[in-house]
Amino acid sequence: KQVGLIFGGSSSEYEVSIISASNIYKAIDKDKFDVHPIWITNEGYLTSEEDSFKVLEDHGYTVAKGDKPANLANIAELANRPELDVLFPIVHGNLGEDGVLQGLFRLIDKPFVGVDVLAAAVTMDKEFTKILAETAGVPVAKWVSIKRYEYDDPDNEKLSYDWVAKKLGTTNLFVKPSNQGSSVGITHVVDDSNYADALAEAFKYDDKVLVEEGIVGTEVETAVLGNDHPIVSGVGQIINAKNTWYSYENKYSDDSTTTLQIPAKIPAETAEKVRQNALKIYQVTECSGMARIDSMLRESDGEVIFNELNSLPGFTSISMYPKLFEEAGIAYGDLITRLIDFAEE
Ligand code: DAL
Ligand code: MG
Repeated sequence: KQVGLIFGGSSSEYEVSIISASNIYKAIDKDKFDVHPIWITNEGYLTSEEDSFKVLEDHGYTVAKGDKPANLANIAELANRPELDVLFPIVHGNLGEDGVLQGLFRLIDKPFVGVDVLAAAVTMDKEFTKILAETAGVPVAKWVSIKRYEYDDPDNEKLSYDWVAKKLGTTNLFVKPSNQGSSVGITHVVDDSNYADALAEAFKYDDKVLVEEGIVGTEVETAVLGNDHPIVSGVGQIINAKNTWYSYENKYSDDSTTTLQIPAKIPAETAEKVRQNALKIYQVTECSGMARIDSMLRESDGEVIFNELNSLPGFTSISMYPKLFEEAGIAYGDLITRLIDFAEE
């Protein structure tokens, strides 16, 4: 079978995507699949298969200026690849994970790994995902959402730290772009000193920003795989030696003080609750293929508070999604085979 492995893209998670794709390329069963890497540069254009192979080997590789296509919006050329049986997009973030790329796949009528247009668009937006989680009866952290037009109004009460802290019942806040991944643009705010900077940073990435109640506790993640009858992995836990939150640096930098604990050292009934909640969220958001669902275990009462859903979770060597299924007895290569099978189901 001929598989188009699509990676890169113009979001802030470009580098993460290249690492994810390299890992998928290494692990995919080469007896079953011929892989055609398809690299979308950070400027957003498609490159040749030769260049795509090069960047998988050397992540810093760039296309020579003269080799850039005349039309930088050449992404629709994917339609001219009749030899490809199925597409495996691992383009994290905006334009990759938010339904836009999935819409193109629908237009060109190719099966693809992962969620469809609606689920991608909804789950990329942290606010819409929370609203749906609540309708499924799953607790979420309290939040205030700020649209750009509100941010542009200096008299808007949401721009006051004291007002928001009072509204959310805590001074411990997270400021997040609603549509982003890998914690890019997120700031932890515990007093008035950096609230304005935190909003400015988050608005660099999105026209809607969420201010959330910080949940004191430990982060746990679980992985879901499948279409109509999905399976849920065990639970993994994010452990940080310095007791800080799971920022971009803590996720990916070499001197990160964060480690993954799989399975999580939490009571069995709590793990079961994490898994049940994850399944409810997967179903209410109409996911298919895969998703990783991240939650907080609140220290004060042990409650499982849903945080976010990632429809194209990281596949880096430290990423939780493939590790959770390895722990469940599904090897990395088998996991990829299953994902491709689900794409065609
Ligand atoms: N958005 C990153 C890739 C993740 O959640 O794993
Ligand atoms: Mg997360």
